Amino acid sequence: MVAAVPTPKYEVKDLSLASMGQKRIEWAAREMPVIKQIRERFAAEKPFAGIRLVACSHITTETANLAITLQAGGVDALLIASNPLSTQDDVAACLVSDYGIPVYAIKGEDNETYHRHVQIALDHKPNIIIDDGSDVVATLIKERQNQLSDIIGTTEETTTGIVRLQAMFNDGVLSFPAMNVNDAETKHFFDNRYGTGQSTLDGIFRATNVLLAGKAVVVAGYGWCGKGVAMRAKGLGANVIVTEINPVRAIEAAMDGFRVMPMIKAAAEGDVFVTLTGNKHVIRAEHFEVMKDGAMVSNAGHFDLEIDLQALGAKATGVKDARNFTQEYSMSNGKSIVVLGEGRLINLAAAEGHPSAVMDMSFANQALACEYLVKNQGNLEAKVHSIPEEIDRNIAALKLKGMGIEIDTLTEDQIEYINSWTVGT
Ligand code: ADE
Repeated sequence: MVAAVPTPKYEVKDLSLASMGQKRIEWAAREMPVIKQIRERFAAEKPFAGIRLVACSHITTETANLAITLQAGGVDALLIASNPLSTQDDVAACLVSDYGIPVYAIKGEDNETYHRHVQIALDHKPNIIIDDGSDVVATLIKERQNQLSDIIGTTEETTTGIVRLQAMFNDGVLSFPAMNVNDAETKHFFDNRYGTGQSTLDGIFRATNVLLAGKAVVVAGYGWCGKGVAMRAKGLGANVIVTEINPVRAIEAAMDGFRVMPMIKAAAEGDVFVTLTGNKHVIRAEHFEVMKDGAMVSNAGHFDLEIDLQALGAKATGVKDARNFTQEYSMSNGKSIVVLGEGRLINLAAAEGHPSAVMDMSFANQALACEYLVKNQGNLEAKVHSIPEEIDRNIAALKLKGMGIEIDTLTEDQIEYINSWTVGT
């Protein structure tokens, strides 16, 4: 009989990268004043003493600052990557060797490794799950029913994960509270819009060095993320085309000054494509067919299924690596199509994800949502909950303080006026 191999306490690329990781984590911390203030309070109050937590997140300098903050609050945390290409290996090494946090994340890990890490995360017997895309929670519900009673709750980072959690609730299988971090104003107004807007273009630039001025950039999906990308691409001189399935958002895009059309028309016009819809096969066989020679396609939605790469592969006569994170598919019609970051989140695959200044607020929501779950243990319904408004406002106030911005407050007279119905025209 073969002896069982003990599970390693971490899986990272190379622990000798830790000192570089430490420098970069400290650099990110300069732009994360809200997380810093929360960390100081957690260190004093220890809200997570005795709590086991799993975080499935992109392993970046910003996530490291969140993990260190939760650790200051007394939590026993284990981290896994939420995406095979987004891990910053130096950060993973630093969390293991300088903070003693078990991390299972290696940039470029395959899908089998990713799913094995989800199992290792569940072996940690978490009470709280911080999820990004809801894979850990979905696996728990499908495969670890015996652990459901350990769970205090989950917090979810992204729109895609919230859609899945709501589907779990509708199917009657969500047996614990889930905090919708994405819904907080201090999350989606900034992270989804300004974070995705900047980091997506950053990923495209680092992968290709393309000039956007004068190019036709097709943005698929005009949610907060799509709005951010369209706005920033326009600012760089691109001619932006938006595709949508939601009529209201389509009007919004048109009135924001963008051309709106179906993908089949946009496909023939675009030089650079970005998908941010949360749905599958937004760019598919019929679209590749009509694209210009050299068209570049990328995705900034959570999962790597927005571009139908199987269909592209089936049409291609050859594929070659043109640059890092840039593959050129030759087509039988003589044209080539360039795929960035293997169709995975381009901002995290080819760049560093959202800048720290926005992740500061997103991860403050994560940290305070975890504290809220613990403080309200046993009193929250098993459903998807919005982040309470006072948490959102508190984060905004802390951020303003960190940015050195003061704002007005209402006078007594104004308070009386907005609370009264008797004064009219
Ligand atoms: N999602 C987008 N950007 C991110 C970042 N910098 N860290 C963690 N998760 C992210």
